[in-house]
Parts: sequence; structure tokens; C-alpha cells
Amino acid sequence: MGRALSARKVATLVGDFPRSPAYLGLADGLRVLIGDGRIGLGVRLPSERELTQALDVSRTTVTRAYETLRDQGYAESRRGAGTFTRVPGGLSRAHDRSLLPASAGRDAIDLNCAAPSAPPGVSEAFQRAAEHLPAYLSGPAYFPMGEPGLQTRIAASYEARGLPTTPDQIMVTSGALSGAAIVAQAFAGAGLRALVESPTYPNATQAMTHAGARLVPFALDPHGWDLDAFEATVRQTAPRLAYLVPDFHNPTGHLMPDAQRERLAAILAAGRVVPVVDEAHQALALEPGLAEAMPAPFALFSKSAITLGSASKAYWGGLRLGWIRASSEMMPRLMRARISLDLGSPVMEQLALSELFDRAAEVLTANRERLRTNRDALVAAVRENLPSWDFLIPKGGLALWCELPQPVATATSALAEQLGVVVAPGPVFAVEGGLNRFLRIPWTAEPEALIEATRRLAAAWEQVNAAPDHTSTAKRSRVLIA
Ligand SMILES: Cc1ncc(COP(=O)(O)O)c(C=O)c1O
Repeated sequence: MGRALSARKVATLVGDFPRSPAYLGLADGLRVLIGDGRIGLGVRLPSERELTQALDVSRTTVTRAYETLRDQGYAESRRGAGTFTRVPGGLSRAHDRSLLPASAGRDAIDLNCAAPSAPPGVSEAFQRAAEHLPAYLSGPAYFPMGEPGLQTRIAASYEARGLPTTPDQIMVTSGALSGAAIVAQAFAGAGLRALVESPTYPNATQAMTHAGARLVPFALDPHGWDLDAFEATVRQTAPRLAYLVPDFHNPTGHLMPDAQRERLAAILAAGRVVPVVDEAHQALALEPGLAEAMPAPFALFSKSAITLGSASKAYWGGLRLGWIRASSEMMPRLMRARISLDLGSPVMEQLALSELFDRAAEVLTANRERLRTNRDALVAAVRENLPSWDFLIPKGGLALWCELPQPVATATSALAEQLGVVVAPGPVFAVEGGLNRFLRIPWTAEPEALIEATRRLAAAWEQVNAAPDHTSTAKRSRVLIA
């Protein structure tokens, strides 16, 4: 535990804090920084004397702030060594153990789930949201279409991307996945055929099959969408829906250019296929300048498109919020489907998300910066530790889709699990099996953890190569949520 934080760095991070009383303002500021990871865990805080000088406050202010942090479980004193950061309940408080395979140890690096921690600003958004809450307490506050202020902000975000949208075209859901389940339910019925990319985000396709859909896979090629093949598949199979992820596709990271969007929309219109466009990763453009120059929303080319949005990756998964954007004519049908599944999303979270939308530029910039740092660290670490693995560097999103020299991803991930890193092999994302040559590594951990993860993967890879029969490991069931 050699990490220590200088008093100057702490002063920069806490910035200006409320001074009535100052010790509480300082403690609150530090607690948020420790909670969201801007100050790491197990880090030694500066001595009281150093921090007193750096902040130009009284010694009592710092002493009482540290005391408050200790009482709240965000710091601990180690005799003779100083004050160290922690969070109540430890790191595992922010994880659901059921998402990790039973064989993974407690300190396994979890890269199964491609979802990052909260960016700076989420805690403050909830505090501001709480101030608005009393105005809602006089009614039941069920909002099956969404809290109107949030609907308005989401609609405005499409307007800003050049897609005219009114608030009544937005239904706030409990995440994009819930949006996919609502759409599938709205179209449910025997004989429903849904065209889906392969590989794809498996939970959304499961939502379709639960609604009775028969999946028609369309294979993505290493560089994206082959539209001649797509057109032929649409003609031959006549699907009713097409579930597409054109913006930093999960798991491949592909970004569909404008010209392809236009042609794909025309192919679907000719076949009377309703596009269901999942934009869960749309806000995660990581190349400098790309966020301002992203391809147009698919719905700009397709009036019938139903778009799914998510707050999970741009802001935070713990909000459990997303939305559906559809034509006003489509909304009553979606609304009927929605209320058969749930009656609306929590008001407090919707108010907090509105607060985040009001500071979107600042929050998203900070979020993209840290994700870019993580991505670049992962790319360098895979190149160094797994030089025979091949990948394209996605311009955004959350994961590297690695191609192994042999189809042994399942065996590699099974061994990696025993060595303390959990990753999802290609078959998890395949619609009809296969893709065992691929493995997804998300850059959702800090660089240090990503580097260690690739070392463990390299050890697993070496063992798989040394084994006489590494194809025998069967695909095992796994819970994947992102
Ligand atoms: C393409 C895609 N859609 C939907 C989701 C789930 O989003 P939400 O958390 O909003 O339900 C994910 C999560 O990784 C995803 O990758």
C-alpha cells in the first residue's frame, strides 16, 4: 500500500467546498471523491498539518473532517502510518456476486460486465434531485411515459443531434434492456421473426425470444456490415423487426457510417421491417473530436425506427434508466406493452438523470477522458502481453473484441477465471453458436487492473496452448448483463 496523495492534489480535487461548517464541507467533498474513485482506495491521505496548509483552513477543520470520514467508514487510521481511504463494506459493495461465476475468487478482476463505475457528478446530481422531490409527493408519481422534465431533456438531446423529437415521442424505461423487452412485447406473437446481428448483445436477443420471436442471425464481418448480404437476408427471411447496434456495437465496437445507415434504412423500409436501434453506447465516442462528428441518428433515415437509449454507459448503470424514442403513432402500442411489464421508473432517479443532462457536456467529457485513458492502456497491455491476439481499435464504446489465433476462447476464459480474471468468450455473443476464436475485454477497470488482467489472460493463454486438447471445455452458462 505505498500510494499516497499530496496535500496539493487533494486541495485541487476538493476545490471550493461549503464552509458552514467547513469541516463538514471538506468531509462531504472527500467522501464523494473516495466514493466515485477519483481518490483511490487504500490511499494515504496527507497529514492534517499538510492539508491544513494547502487548504488554508484551521487545523481543527481538517482534524474534524478526518474524524467524520472515519465515523462514516470512508477512512481509517493506521497506527504510525497515517489516514487511509476506504469505503464502507469494501469494494464488493458495488458488485452483485451472482454476476460472477462461482469459480472466480473474491478478488478476481471482473471484466465480464462491460459497465464502468460512476463518473464525477452523480452523487451531486442526486443531492440536487432530492431538493426537487417534495414537489412530487402530493401525487402517486407513477410516470409510465416518464417524468415530463426528463422526457423533455431526452427529446432535446435528439434535437441537438439533428433529429426533430417531441417529448411525447419519449418513453423513459428502466434501462435500454427494459426498452428492448417492451418493444419485443409490443410486437409479440407467433411467427414474429427478428433479424439480429451476430455477434450481438445477448440480453436484448433473449428479450426477443421471450416474446416469441424467432431470431434470424446476420453475421457481421471483421470490418462491420456487409449490406449486400444484409439485403439478401432481409429478402429471404422477411423479418418483422431488425435489432441493430450501429453505434460502437457491442461486442465488436463497430461504428456504422452515414452512407450505410441510409442504405440499410432503405433496405428495411422496402422489406417493411421495423428497425429497433440500440444506441446504448452512442455517447461514448472516444477519439478526439468524434463526439461532435458522430454519424446521424439512424432514425433520421427511417421514420419507423424505434430507438433505444441508455443512461448506463454515458452516466451510470446504477441509475437503471433508459428510454425508447418512437413515432407518436407507435407510442400507444408501446405504452400498452410497457404497463404489462412495469408501471414506470423511479422518480428520484429520473430527477437525478435530468440533473446530469443539465451538466451533460461536463460529465460526458470527464467520462470520455477516463475511458479513453483506460482504452489506450488496455490496447498497449494486450499488445505487450498477448501479441498474437488481433483486434481493431474501436473509436468508442467499452470493449476490445480480440481474435485469437485458434478457436479456444472458451477454454482460455475458463482458465483465466481460475487465475483471477473474468472475461466473456465469443460464443456468449453468438446467436447460433460459434465465434470461439473471439474474446471480449472491456476497458471498464482502471489501467492498473487492466494491465494485471492481461497478464493473467496471458498466463491462461499459455496454459491453453500447452494443453494437448483445449477444445474439450464446453461452453458454460454465464450471467452477462452488459
Ligand atoms: C447494446 C446494449 N444494449 C443495452 C444494454 C443494457 O443497457 P441498460 O443498462 O440501459 O439496460 C447494454 C449493456 O451493456 C448494451 O451493450
